[in-house]
Amino acid sequence: MLLWFEYREIQRNVMSQDAYRLISPNGTESELPVRSGTTGPDVVDIASLYKEHGAFTYDPGFVATGSCESDITFIDGEKGVLMYRGYPVEQLAAHSNFMEVCWLLLNGDLPTSDELAGFENTIRRHTMLNEGMLNFFKGFRYDAHPMAQLSAVVGSMSAYYHAEMDASNPKHRDIFAHRIIAKLPTIAAAAYKLNTGQPFIYPRNDLNYCDNLLQMLFAVPAEPYEINPVASEALDLLFILHADHEQNCSTSTVRMAGSSGANPYSAIAAGISALWGPAHGGANEAVLNMLDEIGDVSQIGKFVEKAKDKDDPFRLMGFGHRVYKNFDPRATIIREMCHKVLDALDKEDTPLFDLARELEQVALSDDYFKERNLYPNVDFYSGIIYKALGIPTSMFTVMFALGRSVGWVAHWREMISDPKGKIARPRQLYTGAAARDYALIADR
Ligand code: SDX
Repeated sequence: MLLWFEYREIQRNVMSQDAYRLISPNGTESELPVRSGTTGPDVVDIASLYKEHGAFTYDPGFVATGSCESDITFIDGEKGVLMYRGYPVEQLAAHSNFMEVCWLLLNGDLPTSDELAGFENTIRRHTMLNEGMLNFFKGFRYDAHPMAQLSAVVGSMSAYYHAEMDASNPKHRDIFAHRIIAKLPTIAAAAYKLNTGQPFIYPRNDLNYCDNLLQMLFAVPAEPYEINPVASEALDLLFILHADHEQNCSTSTVRMAGSSGANPYSAIAAGISALWGPAHGGANEAVLNMLDEIGDVSQIGKFVEKAKDKDDPFRLMGFGHRVYKNFDPRATIIREMCHKVLDALDKEDTPLFDLARELEQVALSDDYFKERNLYPNVDFYSGIIYKALGIPTSMFTVMFALGRSVGWVAHWREMISDPKGKIARPRQLYTGAAARDYALIADR
């Protein structure tokens, strides 16, 4: 290995500044082209590496590997920047709404008022489920985790809509986008109603996206339901902030599954499953469970020490990020929104919020977290708002999935319409047994 390292010499080609020159141990020389995007780090195109040098790159978890070219979202982890199609998320959070952000992510530009009205009308009229789909909920146990239900029922959409799924047909790609964005809230609410034992509530076409979700979640046939505008506004902002995030784990899963040409509904179901993990979208549920376990500010020190202990698998949920080595801009916006929502809803949950803020202060002043640039991420505060809205912890990642659904669809569309696209199929470093002959059982 040392030999390889001594020989290995990678340097910018002083002549053209657009390639790395690679010299491998046996003296083979080649150039690896450098490509620049609109902004952000350059990439080194290593496509020729195996052919020229017989070696793979090795980057478990893809920490420094670009899997594709994309126009959709840009993140600068050092500066805490997040842009959807070039628009800073802070500006979209201040001036836009989730339906407009859906149009932006899907189409690349902000809509005209007619385009937005037409899109919103289309989404409203795709919120109902095929009645046969409702039978799936009768098969789940009453306490089935809503993420398991969401993944299963979204996967079943590939059975219901298999006919209109010619991925090369732009109309079919549009119908797929509308159905995913419109029907996920209905499926999510149905999963929640199963857990509560209450009857399923049908969507209403006279309501906007967030109002409709709230009434499907919390209305009961026995009495009228009054939608709280603060709750609706808070949800809309949370969906904007969760809508997309470049090549995160669940989005990469959707791209990978879709790259084989699989039915896109099943690719979205795969993305939902990937999001569920506590290292990813499942963290918002894990944060509330962690805060409940900490219980009181007097216990914070003990849990911070646990998080630092390498022999203890406990991590501070809602802290750290693969890309953000500064504040997650979404966490900053959500923290500010916490105040407004808790005040407006006159919620006594402030002890939870106070505990979260104290935990944040203690962690941010601790060298372990500072040295590793571990800051609160999008999941640290979002659960406090969901809880204040009366949404149970088990539904937090489902809410994340509702926001991220448009990002998954936008990336699937970008991947499937790439003329240079190919099936995603990484290689490996093999460390298993060397070739050996079969031994008959009598000889073992
Ligand atoms: C999301 O990718 C995305 O964009 C995701 C997301 C999106 O919008 O799609 O932003 C949403 O998933 C946010 C992240 C939610 N997950 C959590 O909050 C779970 C807790 N966080 C960690 O599991 C962790 O920070 C990750 C998974 C988020 C990031 O892990 P990395 O990039 O693989 O970094 P790492 O695990 O190698 O950590 C580097 C160091 C390690 O210590 P050392 O080996 O250097 O001594 O930091 C430590 C880690 O042990 N560390 C933590 C920690 N996070 C990292 N230590 C304690 N508590 C933590 N939360």
